[in-house]
Amino acid sequence: MALLLPLVFFVQMLTSCASLSTATDALSPGQSLFGNQTLVSKEGNFALGFFSPGKSLKFYVGIWYKKIPKQTVIWVANREKPIPNLSAELKFSNDGHLLLLDHLKNLIWASNSTRHASNSSAAVLLDNGNLILRDGANPNTVTWQSFDHPTDTYVPESWIGMNKVTGEYQTLTSWKNSEDPSPGFFSETIDPNGTSEFFLEWNKSERYWRSGLWTGNYFAAVPILPEMRPHTIITITYVDNKDRRYTTSTYRDRSKITRQVMDVSGQIKQWVWSESAQDWALFFTRPSSQCDVYSVCGPFGICYEKSMPVCKCANGFSPASSRDWELNDWSSGCTRNTKLQCRNSISDAQQDVGFLKLQSILLPSNAISVNSNKVEDCRSVCLNDCSCAAYAYNSSGCFIWNEEVRNLKQLDQGDDMGDTLYVRLAASDIPSSSNTKRTSIILACAAAAVGLGAALLILIYLSLRYKKARFNRHQLEGSLIRFTYAELQNMTKNFSDKLGSGGFGSVYRATMPSSGATVAVKRLEGVRQGEKQFRTEVCTLGLIQHINLIRLCGFCAEGDKKLLVYDFMQNGSLDSWLCEDLHRALGWKTRYEIAIGIARGLAYLHENCRECIIHCDIKPENILLDESYSPKLADFGMAKLLGRDFSRVLTTMRGTIGYLAPEWISGMPITPKADVFSFGAMLIEIISGKRNKDQGDEFLFFPAWAANKVSQGEVLAVLDEKLKGDVNMNQLITLCRVSCWCIQDNEVDRPSMGQVVQVLENVVELNVPPVPGSLQCFIQG
Ligand SMILES: *[C@@H]1O[C@H](CO)[C@@H](O)[C@H](O)[C@H]1NC(C)=O
Ligand SMILES: *[C@@H]1O[C@H](CO)[C@@H](O)[C@H](O)[C@H]1NC(C)=O
Ligand SMILES: *[C@@H]1O[C@H](CO)[C@@H](O)[C@H](O)[C@H]1NC(C)=O
Ligand SMILES: *[C@@H]1O[C@H](CO)[C@@H](O)[C@H](O)[C@H]1NC(C)=O
Ligand SMILES: *[C@@H]1O[C@H](CO)[C@@H](O)[C@H](O)[C@H]1NC(C)=O
Ligand SMILES: *[C@@H]1O[C@H](CO)[C@@H](O)[C@H](O)[C@H]1NC(C)=O
Ligand SMILES: *[C@@H]1O[C@H](CO)[C@@H](O)[C@H](O)[C@H]1NC(C)=O
Repeated sequence: MALLLPLVFFVQMLTSCASLSTATDALSPGQSLFGNQTLVSKEGNFALGFFSPGKSLKFYVGIWYKKIPKQTVIWVANREKPIPNLSAELKFSNDGHLLLLDHLKNLIWASNSTRHASNSSAAVLLDNGNLILRDGANPNTVTWQSFDHPTDTYVPESWIGMNKVTGEYQTLTSWKNSEDPSPGFFSETIDPNGTSEFFLEWNKSERYWRSGLWTGNYFAAVPILPEMRPHTIITITYVDNKDRRYTTSTYRDRSKITRQVMDVSGQIKQWVWSESAQDWALFFTRPSSQCDVYSVCGPFGICYEKSMPVCKCANGFSPASSRDWELNDWSSGCTRNTKLQCRNSISDAQQDVGFLKLQSILLPSNAISVNSNKVEDCRSVCLNDCSCAAYAYNSSGCFIWNEEVRNLKQLDQGDDMGDTLYVRLAASDIPSSSNTKRTSIILACAAAAVGLGAALLILIYLSLRYKKARFNRHQLEGSLIRFTYAELQNMTKNFSDKLGSGGFGSVYRATMPSSGATVAVKRLEGVRQGEKQFRTEVCTLGLIQHINLIRLCGFCAEGDKKLLVYDFMQNGSLDSWLCEDLHRALGWKTRYEIAIGIARGLAYLHENCRECIIHCDIKPENILLDESYSPKLADFGMAKLLGRDFSRVLTTMRGTIGYLAPEWISGMPITPKADVFSFGAMLIEIISGKRNKDQGDEFLFFPAWAANKVSQGEVLAVLDEKLKGDVNMNQLITLCRVSCWCIQDNEVDRPSMGQVVQVLENVVELNVPPVPGSLQCFIQG
C-alpha cells in the first residue's frame, strides 16, 4: 500500500475537475473514476474500482463485494489487458461509453454499448452487482450492462445463456489462475444448438460435463436434493423467449451471499458466505470429482483423486511451469526431463528409448487401436513410431497414443477399471529397477512407521484415558468409568440375564451398585476382532455425546477380557419392532420421530464432531430405543474416523448385506455417503415394516422395488399394511423421497445427513420428485 501512495498523489494532481468527490454509485457523462476511487452501490453491497489480484503487480477494473472483508471479484472489465499501475482512468464518455484509458490515454478497454446514449445518461453500479449504462432520455432502457458480459462468476439475478438478437453468449470462463484473470481453459456455456443444456468445456472444444436438460424445476443432471441448501437461498429458473435463452436465479433469502464460479480447477463451484467463519463455504462442485475435469493436469500430468495437490508428474517428467503449478494451475502439464530423439533404426531406438510403466491408470479415451496380438508387438509398434507417446495392452488389444497424453487418472491398486500404461521416455530417464526396488522398500518402511506411529498414539491415548478414568472413577459424569471384571461379573449376576447378541459379542443386563440404575454390558468375543472393535468403540464413543447416540458409561480391559458398559435402552433394538404383529407395531408418528432421530445422530457424527466419523454399520439391529422410543445409534465397532485432510477412507471390513452402498461393494474407499445409503435402505424398512433381506427374490432388491413404486407416485404401496393407512401423507411422501435419494447409485447424488435432517424437519421442502431414470438402474441391477 505504501508503495502506491505517491502514485495516488500524482493521479490526484492530474484530475482536478472531472473526478468524484465522495463515494457514489454512478458516473455521469464526462466523469472519470481514477486510481484509488471506487463506485459503491446504493446499499453498499458492491464496489467498482481498480484492483490487483494476489501478488500480481498488474491492475484491473473490476466489481467486488463491498461488505466482505476478503476481496472477492465477480467481474473484470479488462481481463485480457491489464494496466501496469494506477495512473489510469475509467471514463464515462460524453457519448455514453465506458472507456478504460491508461496513463497515455490509450484505450485499453471499452464497453462498446450497442446504442448511443443521450447526453444525460449515467453509469450506475446496482446492488445486485450489475454495472449498467442508462439511457438518459429513457431511464428504463439499459444500453449496456456487465451482466451481459460475465467473467467467471454468476451471482443471483445475473444470467448465463445467449442473446438471440445479437448472437452474443453469456459464458463463464475461468481465470487463468488465482492471480491472473485472463481467460483460462475452462468455460460454462449454453448449448449452441438451442437446447436448455449447459456444458463445461475445455479450450472451447472438449465437453466434460453437461447439466442435462431443464426439467421445469431443475437441470436433469443437477437434481435438487443435493443442492438443497442453496435452493433455500435462491431459486433457479430457465427462460427461453424470443430474445434470449438463459438460466438465472433469484434470492429467497437476501441476507445470504452466494456465488457460482467457473473455477480455475475446471469445476463449477457454488460458494456461500459464512458470517461466523468470515469466509466462503464451499457448497457444491460439478463435476464433483476433480479428476473428471478434462485435462486438469495437462499433458502427461497424472490426476490423483485422493491427494493434494491432485496433479503429479510421472518419473522422468517435471512440471512445465512450476510457477503455474504453485498457483494450482496444472494446465501446462509435464514435460520430459530429456527430449526424445527420433532414430531411424529400431536398434538405435531400443538403446535411446524406454518405457515407463504406470500401473492402475484409467486410460485416456483418445487411443488409436492397433492390430497386434502380443504385448511385445504392441511395444515395438510404439517404438517404431516417433510420434507414439505411450501404449497400453489390455484384453481388447493394443492401443497407442500419439503426441501429448492427457487425462491420465491414477486409480487405487487393484481397481478393476485400471490398466497399465507404458509411456515412452528417454532411456536415461527410466528409473533402474534396483532404484525402484529401493524406493518401494523405503516407502514400505515409511508406511509401516506411520502405521506404527498411529497405533502407538492410539495406545498412548487409550492408556491416558484409562488413567484418567481410574482417577475419576465413580465421580465425574460424562467420563468413562473403568470397571474390574469382578465388578461386572457381580453387576450382571455372573452374566445371567442375556439381552441379545450382536456382531462382536453378547449383551447382558446389569445393575449399577451405586445408583441401582440398569445398564447394559457387552462382552466382546473372538479375541482379535474384539480387540479392534473394543478400541474403535472406546475411541469414538468415549469422545462424543449426542442425544441420538448411545452413551458409553465405562469399560473393562483385563487381559483378553474386554467389556463395554452402556446406558440401558428399555425398548431394545429397532429390528425387534419392525416385523412385529399388529399390537406391537409402531405408529406412524413414532416411526417418523425415529427417522429424524437417527438422521440427527448421523448428521452429528458426519458433520459436527471434530473429525468426521462414519458409522459403517447402520441397520435396525444397531438402533436402540429408550423408554420413549427415542432412537440411539449403537455399535461403533466398525466406525471409521476421517482425518481432516481426507475425504474418503478405505475399509477392509464390510458392513451388512442389504445396507451396503455400491461403492463399498466394489471395494472403493468410502465417504459418509455410505452411511447415507444404509440409512436410506433402513428407512424403507421403517416405512414398510418389512426387512429387505426377507423379501425373497434376490434379483429384486427390495429398496429398488420400493424406489420404483415411489417414482410412480404409489407411496401407499410401500407403507406397512399394519398401519391400515393411518399415516400423515405429507410425511410419508417426504420419507419415501428421502429414502430414494439416499439409495442413489452415485454417492454424489445422495444428500448429506444434514440435508436429510432439514428435509425431515420441514426446514427445506422436497418439492421435486427424484429423477425416475436414475431409479431404473436399481430395478435392472
Ligand atoms: C505507470 O506505468 C507507465 C508504464 O509503465 C509509466 O510510464 C508511468 O510513469 C507509470 N506511472 C507512475 C505514476 O508510476
Ligand atoms: C486516494 O488517495 C489519496 C492520497 O493518499 C487519499 O487522500 C484519498 O483519500 C484516496 N481516495 C480514496 C477514495 O480512497
Ligand atoms: C470495442 O469497439 C472497438 C472499436 O470498434 C474495438 O476496437 C474494440 O475491440 C471493442 N472492444 C471490445 C471489448 O469489444
Ligand atoms: C444535452 O442534450 C440537450 C438536448 O438533447 C441539450 O440541450 C443540452 O445542452 C445537452 N447537454 C450537454 C451537457 O451536452
Ligand atoms: C448440434 O447439431 C448438429 C447438427 O444437427 C449435430 O451434429 C451436433 O452433434 C449437435 N450438437 C450437440 C451438442 O447436440
Ligand atoms: C485450443 O484451441 C485452439 C483453437 O482451437 C488451438 O489452436 C489450441 O492449440 C488449443 N490448445 C491446446 C492446448 O490444445
Ligand atoms: C482397453 O483400453 C482401451 C483404450 O483405453 C479401452 O477403450 C478398452 O475399453 C479397454 N478394454 C478393456 C477390456 O478394459
